[in-house]
Amino acid sequence: MSTIQTAAIIGGGVIGAGWVARFIENGIDVAIYDPASDAVAKIEAVLQNSRYAYNKLTKVQRKREGVVSYCDSLAQAVSNAQIIVESVPERLEVKQSVYAEIESHAASDAMIVSSTSGIMPSDLQSQMHNPERLLVAHPFNPVYLLPLVELVAGQKTRASVIDAAKAFYLSIGMKPLLVKKEIEAFIADRLLEAIWRESLWLVKDGVATTEDIDDAVRFGFGLRYAQMGVFDTYRVAGGEAGMRHFMAQFGPCLKWPWSKLTDVPDFNEELVDLIATQSDQQSGHMSIREMERMRDDNLIGILHALKDNNWGAGETLANHEVRLLEAANDAS
Ligand SMILES: NC(=O)c1ccc[n+]([C@@H]2O[C@H](COP(=O)([O-])OP(=O)(O)OC[C@H]3O[C@@H](n4cnc5c(N)ncnc54)[C@H](O)[C@@H]3O)[C@@H](O)[C@H]2O)c1
Repeated sequence: MSTIQTAAIIGGGVIGAGWVARFIENGIDVAIYDPASDAVAKIEAVLQNSRYAYNKLTKVQRKREGVVSYCDSLAQAVSNAQIIVESVPERLEVKQSVYAEIESHAASDAMIVSSTSGIMPSDLQSQMHNPERLLVAHPFNPVYLLPLVELVAGQKTRASVIDAAKAFYLSIGMKPLLVKKEIEAFIADRLLEAIWRESLWLVKDGVATTEDIDDAVRFGFGLRYAQMGVFDTYRVAGGEAGMRHFMAQFGPCLKWPWSKLTDVPDFNEELVDLIATQSDQQSGHMSIREMERMRDDNLIGILHALKDNNWGAGETLANHEVRLLEAANDAS
């Protein structure tokens, strides 16, 4: 059980706004600080999407929505928060200066979590007065629908803080995955970078367009990944003989190799133009808002299908609905 009722979100971009949505959906009051002049409008647009999505996602009685407060200063936002979520741009020195400001205005026992996609928590906490309360909680876009959150401890993070974080993310319908060793980019972004790097090569070398690559994922192995991941998919692909047979058959190919491994294409203007132009041709007829709605509708359909089988991310949703029902019964 988590007792967290108040949160501060520092940085209300794509990810910060997604956290706001998930927190208020779970009855947590949120104070936000983002100095950008268009921050409120952008956050409200995400909240419009998330309310639409949650109405479709679950039919069980949901919690009373938490209150959203937009603050003029970081000091004001963190003053009453039990958890402070940093979602500012991916630059170590920007994040460290935000922690310095947080530490001078927040309660000394407030948990501080970073949404960083890949910076090591030990580097994030290296200049803090109370580093034991900082950890990484790496989410995935859209944060209000995707349950995974990777938890990564730094060298100075206290074990009890990790336990409290696990309980908290479970209580808001997420799947906390504790990364066993501190490493840049954690688990998921390492996998994603390998796919991204290989995709860039395929476009650069003229083997495929951006649309061909997306089709190769979404009509095939992407459908398998959403429900069985990497290893179980290959276990099944090995037939009755399972994983050992699969590895005997395909293991040696790694020595050829099929991919360009860690060799990275030059990220120059020519490559950026090539990809951006193809992407415009592929999907420029839809607004980002329309694409977000399509993405969310599809994700909800997939989550419902997985829930029917009590499997993977659908099991997380089913368990969360049980908790919501218990909360509704306790309240009545
Ligand atoms: N976009 C993704 O898919 C994704 C996924 C997981 C994690 N992340 C991580 O989340 C973090 C935020 O990424 P994003 O994609 O939301 O970026 P973003 O550019 O959409 O948002 C960043 C926001 O921070 C605000 N900001 C800048 N300096 C600030 C300050 N000093 N105080 C308060 N607000 C400030 C900006 O105005 C902006 O609104 C990064 O660390 C990123 O690596 C991103």
